[in-house]
Amino acid sequence: MIATHNEGKRREVAELLAPYGLDVVAAGALGLPVPEESEDSFLGNARIKALAAARATGLPALADDSGFSVAALGGDPGVRTADWAELPGGGRDYAMAMAKVAALAEPSPDRHAWFSCALVLAWPDGHTEGFLGEVHGRWVHPPRGDRGFGYDPMFIAEGGDETFGEMEPAAKHAISHRARAFAQLRAACLD
Ligand code: IMP
Repeated sequence: MIATHNEGKRREVAELLAPYGLDVVAAGALGLPVPEESEDSFLGNARIKALAAARATGLPALADDSGFSVAALGGDPGVRTADWAELPGGGRDYAMAMAKVAALAEPSPDRHAWFSCALVLAWPDGHTEGFLGEVHGRWVHPPRGDRGFGYDPMFIAEGGDETFGEMEPAAKHAISHRARAFAQLRAACLD
């Protein structure tokens, strides 16, 4: 089962795991509560979500936690990436979040930024296996491209010249933090 309440994530994970004969059920579909993400690392928060789901269902559970980090901001927004886009009245505004990141980071000449994706597989007995994928590059502003999601339009991977928001989805998926974390999980647990 996948510890997510997000249908998009459930579909992506189901597609990745289908070749291994694994069925995927979402935590949301089972009505599991959303645990508080109280850790200060991606792996720590993914572990909280995976363990809560595995203990509640008695099934192995997979959870992810991901985000965008900027060197000039000491790694922020990091585990608070989604929160920076939160609107006071509810909903998310990523143009606002990207403008905030750029305004705060602008005074520094250091443009280094990266995406991270932590995946944690947890068993009902409390055993966990964690994997961390990262893709490094630089931030740009104003945002470019209308593909992808979230902070994609302000990130250019090392060696590239298009933002993740401009790239073909397949090209992004070949090098993304999520693909790298999944490659590690497959090599360790599935292949
Ligand atoms: P989570 O769903 O709580 O892990 O939050 C992840 C946050 O990071 C969300 O705000 C996403 O928009 C952002 N994020 C994660 N992965 C990507 C990506 O591949 N591109 C752009 N934004 C991402």
